[in-house]
Amino acid sequence: MKNLIDIMQLSTDELQELIDRAMDIIANPAKYAEACHGKKLATLFFEPSTRTRLSFEAAMYELGGNVIGFSEANSSSAAKGESVADTVRTVGCYADIIAMRHPKEGAPLVATRTAGVPVVNAGDGGHNHPTQTLADLLTIYREKGGFENLTFGLCGDLKFGRTVHSLISAMSRYKGVKFVLISPEELRVPRYIITDLLEPKHIPYAEVTSLEAAMPDLDILYMTRVQRERFFNEADYMRLKDTYILTPDKLRAAKKDLAILHPLPRVNEISVAVDDDPRACYFKQVLNGKYMRMALILKLLEVNV
Ligand code: CP
Repeated sequence: MKNLIDIMQLSTDELQELIDRAMDIIANPAKYAEACHGKKLATLFFEPSTRTRLSFEAAMYELGGNVIGFSEANSSSAAKGESVADTVRTVGCYADIIAMRHPKEGAPLVATRTAGVPVVNAGDGGHNHPTQTLADLLTIYREKGGFENLTFGLCGDLKFGRTVHSLISAMSRYKGVKFVLISPEELRVPRYIITDLLEPKHIPYAEVTSLEAAMPDLDILYMTRVQRERFFNEADYMRLKDTYILTPDKLRAAKKDLAILHPLPRVNEISVAVDDDPRACYFKQVLNGKYMRMALILKLLEVNV
């Protein structure tokens, strides 16, 4: 594998390899401290980010490498009209690997054609976010010990929430997985998720609107933010943004070993009062993302430790 654009490029065996590597990094950080000495990561972020960009950068520094890049399109020559293809062809002259976020679906795939170095999709529009899924998977693995026989509740903006699309794709390959897709009618998952992924594999799913009714059955609750930046109409965003707000009261009906995940950033959809609940895993997810990005960088750069 030379690039990571879609989580489905990684087999379940390769996902497990990355998880095993991340667990070894957690246990033996000193072993990896110089693993990428002399290598450079470029972070090309045409859209805002806190976790993804900074965790990629922290990952490369903790592997002994260096980082270059930009954090907004306006500080690059994209502002003068340069194409993605030319930008990455240029950056490929300076860096050994590129992590790229872009508002246009498919832009990181286009980048693979001219970069000349591995490209990682760090989020493309409302499409995919494979390295967030790596963070999600390590969190689920550490909380649940594996991926089989889990009931997932995915709640919020399932239409534009790219993390949801990548996570459903990844989890659709494990036995005994069920999905409860909790959203307003207007923000249901794109139909291709149902027709191309869930129905052909006969994976049980339900599309519902009530979080409260779904709660007792869930092993994982994956909350998401309503993606204001993808709406065409501010009035629709204002109407839908607070449809779901997770509170301690709503969690009374949940399993004692529920794991609550959220890719972050959150706005209102999880009350801060939930943060002290031992089932809240979203800040563990943040840290797990750094370890999985370290494991991914090692794999794409073919560094043996
Ligand atoms: N989860 C995530 O992608 O967060 P950022 O937008 O802060 O990178």
